[in-house]
Amino acid sequence: MPEYEQDLLEDLVKTNVFDPVLIRRMVRYLKPYWHRAALGFGLMLMSTLLTLAPAIIVAAMVDVVFVPAATTTAIPVGDGPAAAVSAKGGLYDFPGMRETIHALVPEGGDLATLLWVFAAVFLLVKVFQFLVDWGNGYLLASVAQSVLFDIRMQVFRHIQTRSIAYFHRHPVGRFVTRVTNDVGSLDEFFSQALVMVLKDIVMLFGVATLLLVFNTELALIVMMTIPPVIVATLVFRRYSRPAFRKFRATVSTLNAQMAESANGIRVIQLFGRAAKNQQRYDGTGREFRQHFLTFRHAHAVFRPVYMSFQAIALGFVIWFGGAWVLDEPLGTGGFTVGMLTLFILLADMFFQPIRDLTDRVDHIQAAFTGAERIFTVLDVKERIPERPDAVKAPRFRGEVEFENVRFSYLPGEEVLKGVSFNVQPGQMVALVGHTGAGKSTIINLISRFYDIDSGHILVDGRDVREYTLHSLRRNIAVVHQDVFLFAGSIRDNISLADPAISEEQVIEAAKAVGAHDFIMRFPEGYNHILQEAGKTFSAGERQLLSFARALAHNPAILVLDEATSSIDTRSEQQIQRAMRVLMKGRTSIVIAHRLSTIQRADLIIVMHKGQIAERGTHGQLLGEGRIYRTLYDLQVNGAVRERV
Ligand SMILES: Nc1ncnc2c1ncn2[C@@H]1O[C@H](COP(=O)(O)OP(=O)(O)OP(=O)(O)O)[C@@H](O)[C@H]1O
Ligand SMILES: [Mg+2]
Repeated sequence: MPEYEQDLLEDLVKTNVFDPVLIRRMVRYLKPYWHRAALGFGLMLMSTLLTLAPAIIVAAMVDVVFVPAATTTAIPVGDGPAAAVSAKGGLYDFPGMRETIHALVPEGGDLATLLWVFAAVFLLVKVFQFLVDWGNGYLLASVAQSVLFDIRMQVFRHIQTRSIAYFHRHPVGRFVTRVTNDVGSLDEFFSQALVMVLKDIVMLFGVATLLLVFNTELALIVMMTIPPVIVATLVFRRYSRPAFRKFRATVSTLNAQMAESANGIRVIQLFGRAAKNQQRYDGTGREFRQHFLTFRHAHAVFRPVYMSFQAIALGFVIWFGGAWVLDEPLGTGGFTVGMLTLFILLADMFFQPIRDLTDRVDHIQAAFTGAERIFTVLDVKERIPERPDAVKAPRFRGEVEFENVRFSYLPGEEVLKGVSFNVQPGQMVALVGHTGAGKSTIINLISRFYDIDSGHILVDGRDVREYTLHSLRRNIAVVHQDVFLFAGSIRDNISLADPAISEEQVIEAAKAVGAHDFIMRFPEGYNHILQEAGKTFSAGERQLLSFARALAHNPAILVLDEATSSIDTRSEQQIQRAMRVLMKGRTSIVIAHRLSTIQRADLIIVMHKGQIAERGTHGQLLGEGRIYRTLYDLQVNGAVRERV
């Protein structure tokens, strides 16, 4: 199965465009802006009708100015337009036309004056239409952008407050592409497709009405070509749509492959995957080219077919209409040259909206699918619940207690199987154990990133669920195994742009953990902007920055998940020093991979398969602890062997 098919499958999830619930939900976003929307819509209607005006003006001009009155009646030159055109019939006899013309032409004007009047009216109508277009374009675009702004902010706010567990199940890359694309297709819909579709519909009905009003017979002849056009369109869509979908899906895949190659460039080059990757990209590129060409080919065939129907319709108009003009004795008020002109112009206008509408169906479909997907994201309720009576935590003294805590990430797979321990304020507790034993899990639970299955986690004697999330987390600083730095200045990375943390505090914190010197190596110092989210920093430097961040926030409880990556001895000493500064005067819970770090701990907890296997001080555990003893021996002997 080609790779793009994954994207294709996602694309194929079709949405019912006429789903009333979905429509109502989309319309709700328009509500705050309905004044602007209504005005913009009104102007749009007006603009569309004004598009029809020139055809009528030109046709009327032909009848009124250029077609001489019945040959039997000489034009009474100098007697004014009233006399000159009185006997012409055709468009001139159309209700209201006569009065309008007479009102516009000054007394005593002749045919030349009439011509000027037509030119002036034409120009005025056009200028007016431009003004209306400007107003409706701006209003509708501003409504569309306001709605999209609201949707974007809502999605962002929503995502930011979902629980961590939600993100485990939704790979970030795909998720971001989805949301961006879906908002993008809504953007296209609101700012273009919707307006255009409405315009096309109004236009279609406007032209059809005019045709029918002026001459029903000829109107029906023009409309006879609609069924074959629709059939041709359906056939075309059958061929072009799969190709369209496929080429769009291959674009997503191409993007994904490009992103993956750029992100994983180290691994790719290290393991010599470049050629393989190239091959894969090459294959997808070819798929894209092929599907795109199929799509264009369908277009290339359809256009002439479609234009032929338009030409046939025009041919009929000229054939029948022209014959009628010839048959009618001039001045009898039958089918005139002006009418023929009008029909030729209108028949031309009639086909454009039909063609455009068929093109836009895909956009509308995409927008509704996008809307539905966005709503699916917005409907995710998953978040850590906050009790209505949750209290704002004061600054903690720093007592942490686990009471028979059981927890599983996935139902049925318990990761913590009844863990109990107590940390007194200001104490240092260390968690050790084999990889996957559940150490990181324990510290994630203290900040309540997940809720436990049973048992209690108490901070200062109160269940963590009784505090508001924000006040709980404000009291706890977590330094994670993988330090997260974001694009921004070093200062913002330390203060996290918290206005309560002054520049002095940032520098003080950096100095205390020994990060100041390396920060000052940059010409801009604390204003240095991180490249590639800090990937150019060494692991030790990143660690120090994260320590400075924790220290600047002055938490009551410090939680530290030490990185496993090896750091040279000198940096290690520096980091050890920094950790001591960091832990001073607060409760700290530390996961240490280097046992040298934790020899001073008040309590060492040895985790094994989700349970506490041993506990005690370093001295006690060396004497009694079997697992601890083994770990220690491994490290010490390993270290000895390394040095040899
Ligand atoms: N988000 C998750 N979803 C499902 N299982 C998870 C998740 N996070 C961790 N686990 C599983 O829970 C167990 C405990 O993981 P944890 O991260 O707590 O280990 P650890 O003791 O910190 O290991 P390490 O020393 O390697 O950091 C592991 O078996 C792991 O695979
Ligand atoms: Mg871990």
